[in-house]
Amino acid sequence: MRIGILGGTGPAGSALAARLASIGYPVVIGSRSKYRAMEARDGMVGKWPDLEPLVSYGDNAGAAECDVVVIATPWDSAATTAQENAAALDGKVVVSMANALVRVGHEFQPLVPPRGSVAAHVQAAVPHCRVVAAFHHLPATELGHLGEPIRRLDLWRRPGGGSDHQRHRRQDPRLPPARCR
Ligand SMILES: NC(=O)c1ccc[n+]([C@@H]2O[C@H](COP(=O)([O-])OP(=O)(O)OC[C@H]3O[C@@H](n4cnc5c(N)ncnc54)[C@H](OP(=O)(O)O)[C@@H]3O)[C@@H](O)[C@H]2O)c1
Repeated sequence: MRIGILGGTGPAGSALAARLASIGYPVVIGSRSKYRAMEARDGMVGKWPDLEPLVSYGDNAGAAECDVVVIATPWDSAATTAQENAAALDGKVVVSMANALVRVGHEFQPLVPPRGSVAAHVQAAVPHCRVVAAFHHLPATELGHLGEPIRRLDLWRRPGGGSDHQRHRRQDPRLPPARCR
């Protein structure tokens, strides 16, 4: 199963790509610029040479061709990025990891998008996909510490649906237990 990451050049997307590759999944780092994706991929392979056979790069359209696609752009571009790649995403599982946050002074404040969540907004933009919300509370630094297990995993949720985490965990027991919220 190939996993594509749109906006995979940022800290969250590239750390997730490295973590997924470290447990054997082929990943494609996507970007609006294929050159930036190549730089991100080269940086990753420089740090973890063992990942080289599993990590490739492309533009976001190339990453959207994968079997499962993660959207790792800032929250306010997640839906438009999905929509731009709607044809390639058709019928697939699309993971939304964006947090809708704004900085107010020294802290981040959550925003509630009109449909209730970023994932619901993405789902409305690509209605023929199955959008799940996941990984919001996994800091990129923790994801990128490949030698250490992840101690916390968000519950997987579908907008308007139940939890998908237990089903995913049955399929891949290498996923850590969920922390229910
Ligand atoms: N950082 C964390 O610890 C963390 C943890 C959990 C969840 N998240 C969530 O994961 C998402 C990514 O986080 P991040 O810190 O990696 O974010 P980021 O660095 O701000 O953005 C990630 C990538 O998105 C692309 N991008 C930026 N603006 C865009 C736009 N207007 N349209 C399309 N693509 C755009 C850029 O890639 P290109 O320029 O190469 O296209 C950028 O490298 C966020 O929604 C965040 O809330 C972050």
